[in-house]
Amino acid sequence: MAEQKIHTADLRTGMFVSRLDRDWLDTPFILQGFSIEDREDIEIVQEFCEYVWVESEFDARKGPSKSANLGSASRPSAPPPLPQYQASIKQEHKKIYSSFRRARTITSQLLDDFRLGAAINNAAAKQTVNECVKSVIRHPDALLWMTKIRESRQYTADHCLNVCILAIAFGRQLGLDEAQLQHLGLCGLLHDVGKMRVPHDIVEKPAALTPKEWNMMKAHTVHGRNLLMSTENIPNTVVDVAYSHHERIDGEGYPRKISGNDISRFAKIISLVDAYDAMTAERCYSKPKTSTEALKIIYNARGKQFDEALAIRFIETIGLYPAGSIVELYSGEVGIVIESNPQRRHLPKIILVRDADKNPLEKELVKDLQYIESGELPRRLLIKQVWCDGSFGISLRVYQQRGLVLKYS
Ligand SMILES: [Fe+2]
Repeated sequence: MAEQKIHTADLRTGMFVSRLDRDWLDTPFILQGFSIEDREDIEIVQEFCEYVWVESEFDARKGPSKSANLGSASRPSAPPPLPQYQASIKQEHKKIYSSFRRARTITSQLLDDFRLGAAINNAAAKQTVNECVKSVIRHPDALLWMTKIRESRQYTADHCLNVCILAIAFGRQLGLDEAQLQHLGLCGLLHDVGKMRVPHDIVEKPAALTPKEWNMMKAHTVHGRNLLMSTENIPNTVVDVAYSHHERIDGEGYPRKISGNDISRFAKIISLVDAYDAMTAERCYSKPKTSTEALKIIYNARGKQFDEALAIRFIETIGLYPAGSIVELYSGEVGIVIESNPQRRHLPKIILVRDADKNPLEKELVKDLQYIESGELPRRLLIKQVWCDGSFGISLRVYQQRGLVLKYS
């Protein structure tokens, strides 16, 4: 269907917006193509864009035509209602701090056991996943915040636990039940155990791998399958995910080059989560990408590397400003997101930690940006840009250690 470019001042309820004058992923409208349902939608579009493209059968002077109305076959279907939180973010931060540290220690021990060929503590692995599932069900933002704080010396262990947590949060959004979440979490925790059988200097090499080294690296999928198959009480799905999490929808992955629905759903999920966490981590050979940059890459690789529908749902799950994001406001001030807002994704709750000149604030302030809509907060507090951990001298670890999240959440 042809499109018509209009000024956002001419937007009306019922119009179907098919294009923006800026990147979709820089706006609260992550899904390409949406209908304008009310005045609030118009105001949000106007906040971000000057011009948009609407389906051309819509006549701006007459109002919505039938064909411009809702229900286009190409439009993404509405996601199911968001699950309700069972705890406040503050309660959840209090609960999970020590269990998260324990989970990190257990994950490191598990990987060491795999490296040494020792007996694996299955019960500890399942208990760790279980605690993560319970926490994500109560309120996902507390554990998602913790995934942003990494130990640079133990990348693989941090990555495995992060993939476990992110997969559980994603599975919860997909409507999986608690037993399925436990299963998926275990897939995430153990997906990369095969790396324990790849020489450490290859896994951590601060430069491009030679073809021979790359083949050794790719073999971690086969090592993972073999290690898990010879471990007691490991479900087949977990073995399959370790083997298949680098396969691609277009058949260009490894090790088997399988494609489409020959790849299991859990392997497709872990493939997305794995890529996102790897891109947002600082590695010896690359700088971390912001969450937005990583989501853009995933969006552009949908239908090729990643399952298209799952990629869109994953982008929705992470959202624009996940907990732990460092955000610069239009005022120039800088804050840290402590709680996302599933209904108004561009208006999370933040702690302000830098003034407009990027100097530390003597007293940090909490701002719930949803009050911008009612006019109780000024519009200069809208978020302009996301930055990586460490930007402006802000370290999430330091704020965690100072108990700032607990104090203000
Ligand atoms: Fe992997």
